[in-house]
Amino acid sequence: MGNANVKSPFSKRFLWGAATSAHQVEGGTHNQWTVWELENANALAAAASYHYHDIDGWEQFEKAAKNPKNYVSGQMADHYNRYEEDFEFLTQLNMNAFRFSVEWSRIEPEEGAWNAEAIEHYKQYVKALKKRGIEPVLTLFHYTLPVWFAELGGFEKRANVKYFTRYAEKILQELGSDIRLVITLNEPEIYAYESYKIGHWPPNKTSNRTMLQVMNNLARAHNDTAKLIHAMNRRYKVSIAKNSVYYYAGDDALLSRKTADVMQFSQEDYFLRKVAKQCDFLGVNYYFSNRVYGYRVHNPNEKMSDTGWDLSPGNIQHALERLHDKYHLPILITENGLADHQDTRRKWWITQTIMAMQQASAYGVDIMGYLHWSLLDNFEWDKGKWPRFGLVHVSYSTQKRTLRPSAIWFGNVIKKLRSAAK
Ligand code: BGC
Repeated sequence: MGNANVKSPFSKRFLWGAATSAHQVEGGTHNQWTVWELENANALAAAASYHYHDIDGWEQFEKAAKNPKNYVSGQMADHYNRYEEDFEFLTQLNMNAFRFSVEWSRIEPEEGAWNAEAIEHYKQYVKALKKRGIEPVLTLFHYTLPVWFAELGGFEKRANVKYFTRYAEKILQELGSDIRLVITLNEPEIYAYESYKIGHWPPNKTSNRTMLQVMNNLARAHNDTAKLIHAMNRRYKVSIAKNSVYYYAGDDALLSRKTADVMQFSQEDYFLRKVAKQCDFLGVNYYFSNRVYGYRVHNPNEKMSDTGWDLSPGNIQHALERLHDKYHLPILITENGLADHQDTRRKWWITQTIMAMQQASAYGVDIMGYLHWSLLDNFEWDKGKWPRFGLVHVSYSTQKRTLRPSAIWFGNVIKKLRSAAK
């Protein structure tokens, strides 16, 4: 594995793990997304060719992507019932951390009414991680909202933030004794952009003003929640999971450099500056970078994932170093991975990423851990089920799980790196 085998800069406390989110794996959810999927499955299937026909290898996904069932999460990986079996994979892969989200709509199906059974479920869920020596990384909001909260206007209304903080407080009161690391919001700007600017996700709005409003309210939701959680106990470490895209100029032209800077600022710093003071560390999700020529992004696309993303795993180094220089916070990589159904690029991707983390750590970045997206194949939002991000392959017809070869390899790498750690 080349340089990834050199003496490890990763300490004994380094978190090696994987990530998921409730709606994407649990199955049987009822929230704003579930309702939306059922209403939109036919339209999404009909538009699939238009959106994805130029993706490399499209013919392999075409049939699935044109089937309306692809867009309905349904039972998904049935992780809600099979989590014990799934956590065994974490142990097999020598992992010591796992990021997951709690599904708000299960906890509070009606405004102000707590569901004791769902709360008990997540208590047992976290205990099942702890008994395996796995550090739970709890996410409170990963894109899905209870129907009642969406009907009240969701995060469009500042007055609604209080419902989120009340839910957060309840979760920490109930699960908090086994939790140390909390992610309040997953990729808040991606959510605001997809749902309120380009309208691809529910509630399908296309308004700059609303997008900004939602972003501001999400920043407030994070800040209020972080303060509240810290007041409960200082031992909690809180952050958001920030989508990080690294922008770089493709040539020496001043215009390309300036455009890359502006894009970087608006994608990265606009939101982070509002919440950084209330973050104990930075959760970072990294999937790709963007190369800028003049006013436009024009990526090399030498290697692409199944979803057509330009694969530049090594650039995570620059993303990490930049965030370190600007915010001086420890960084937990809360997501990183690719859709690769044939499993031909995942090993290369992880190798490059480990090397980049070594470089970044030599530069001075305090990296707390690396969580691969994803443990299991999962529901890829408006793309549905065809993209395969899992270290573990899931057959949605039989629910059979199979470790992909890259996962077995990664498990051995983790073992080596953990045993070499000081
Ligand atoms: C999201 C995940 C998603 C992944 C791959 C991240 O932006 O947090 O929910 O599955 O990207 O698209």
